[in-house]
Amino acid sequence: MIDSTTIRQVQDAADILDVIGEHVALKRAGKNFLGLCPFHEEKTPSFSVSPSKSIFKCFGCGAGGSIFQFIMRKDRVSFPEAVESLAQRLGIPIARSQPSPTAQRKVDLASVNSWAAGVFRSNLQDQVLGRSAREYLATRGLSPQIQEQFKLGLALPGWDGLIQTAASTSRSAQSLAAAGLVTARESGQGWYDRFRNRLIFPIVDASQRVIAFAGRSLELADEKSGAKYLNSPETPLFSKSSCLYGLDQARDSIVRKNQAVVVEGYTDCLMAHQHGLTNVVATMGTALTDLQAGLLRRFCERVVVVFDSDQAGLQAADRAIDVFLGQRIQLSVAAVPQGKDPCDYIISHGIDAFGQIVDHAVDALEYKWQLARRAQQDSDSPAGQHRAIEQFLASLARSAHFGSSDPIWRGLLLNHIAKLLSMSPVQVLAVVNQLKSRTARRVQPADPSGPVSTASAQTPLSAMDKALRQVLEVLLNKPSYIEKVAGVIAPEDFSQADLQTVAEAVFKWAGDTDQPQLSDLLAGQSSLDQADLITSLAEQGSRKGNFQPNLSGAMDYICSYRQRRNSLDAAESIRRADSDLSDEQVNELLQQVQSQLKTQNRRNPGIRV
Ligand code: GTP
Ligand code: MN
Repeated sequence: MIDSTTIRQVQDAADILDVIGEHVALKRAGKNFLGLCPFHEEKTPSFSVSPSKSIFKCFGCGAGGSIFQFIMRKDRVSFPEAVESLAQRLGIPIARSQPSPTAQRKVDLASVNSWAAGVFRSNLQDQVLGRSAREYLATRGLSPQIQEQFKLGLALPGWDGLIQTAASTSRSAQSLAAAGLVTARESGQGWYDRFRNRLIFPIVDASQRVIAFAGRSLELADEKSGAKYLNSPETPLFSKSSCLYGLDQARDSIVRKNQAVVVEGYTDCLMAHQHGLTNVVATMGTALTDLQAGLLRRFCERVVVVFDSDQAGLQAADRAIDVFLGQRIQLSVAAVPQGKDPCDYIISHGIDAFGQIVDHAVDALEYKWQLARRAQQDSDSPAGQHRAIEQFLASLARSAHFGSSDPIWRGLLLNHIAKLLSMSPVQVLAVVNQLKSRTARRVQPADPSGPVSTASAQTPLSAMDKALRQVLEVLLNKPSYIEKVAGVIAPEDFSQADLQTVAEAVFKWAGDTDQPQLSDLLAGQSSLDQADLITSLAEQGSRKGNFQPNLSGAMDYICSYRQRRNSLDAAESIRRADSDLSDEQVNELLQQVQSQLKTQNRRNPGIRV
């Protein structure tokens, strides 16, 4: 953990014009400087740097943030790495704060895992104990070099090999248990090894920490041996859905090629690397998740998912829209013929043939659209086509990312989809919105079709989000209002997850310093998407100006919306509390509640700022 004062010090010492000016030719334009954006192709400058605010923002691609996010993007490094490299340039020593308890737990877990990886590795290299496992690897065609590079290991057949070794180096069984390497016996007395008689594949993250293990059974002939692969359990360090096998080895190559190839299996990944195709990583047998795509997006813009079974292909295509919307990543899919997996295919057809498959990958949205059409029997009739379009667009409407993804990217995607469907982007958007409100209505709780109609609670929803958004736009420009606003609205009021995170950061920002600077807020953002969003909210707010009236307007709206909600809730609770009441009696009670709320409303017209 880099100390926050150090981050501030580095930020203050660095000249944003100097640093960015090394990569971008900047010309003065009023208070700001303009240049060609280094993050996307453009012919007319839309990349702007504000030295007074210490931020940059591209009006073309939406990238924005402080000097740290500029370095993160430019050099494709993490937030701490960006701080470190800048500090080094400026000759500022890095002060590290005490790691938090969670951070410390992760350090401990990584240390146990790294020790265990060493034990497994020496088992495999042992003349006697490792012989049959090495022979097995040889029959699979995995070279000693690739075994070394990926630190492959061996868990011995006994029940307590690892525990014994730990004891001899005075490591506690508890620390092994925390990492999921051993399990407590049911009797409560003692422990046993999780991985027994298995080939071990250490799972290493992009910063070279051993975060977990996968163990492949070496006794598959034995039916009783159960699962072919066994993973470490989820720990604070390891979550299967958010990491990728081989990323530590593939990272540089992914950056160089601006492309990642995702396969399903460990052995697929190893075989590709062994043959020199090094931008390959593996999901652990699951479909690519949004988190994994986000991880890859730090390093590249294009991802090709290679699948070996139809099921996997379907899963990958199903995820495509979500991944596309959530991560600004260009996703395509490719299949290995005859149900072979990449490992076997590379062995039998060579790496160049496999490279061809990757090169001919199909855009994932297009693939998904083909699937939706094939699913309709009479896909050429108007009715069949209609159903296919509806089915396809429904997944767009379902995506939690739809409302929150950045508007430019969303627009590009709509265009892309419109072309696929031979519709106009406006038509596509209209259908998606229609499908969206249909699903929204379906998940509404029991419909109190009394005098207060649910329609009134529903229609303002998006207006509520707009009002909350406007509040953030103002606060990012006028942090002095934060204190007043924080008493009235809370981050939980934001229904969109990304705005909620911004709100949390904004409210904390005010407490941190006397004179909050936008660049300070940005300095704490390790997520580039989050930094983009903050910068663009701040920019929109500053363009609209009129901070005070805009904030009051939004706050008034929020308060009156809440009062309406309260009266709806009152209706609900009256109904629940006394189901014996007749409809007329309920109506009468409700009218009383409503008129009370109205007088309250008159007495207290929102919050004044
Ligand atoms: P080999 O059979 O040795 O070639 O391994 P593989 O990596 O090709 O395995 P396979 O193609 O059967 O499965 C692909 C991936 O799914 C594996 O690499 C694992 O990540 C995962 N997987 C397969 N079987 C299991 C299992 O029984 N348990 C778990 N947890 N994961 C599995
Ligand atoms: Mn296989």
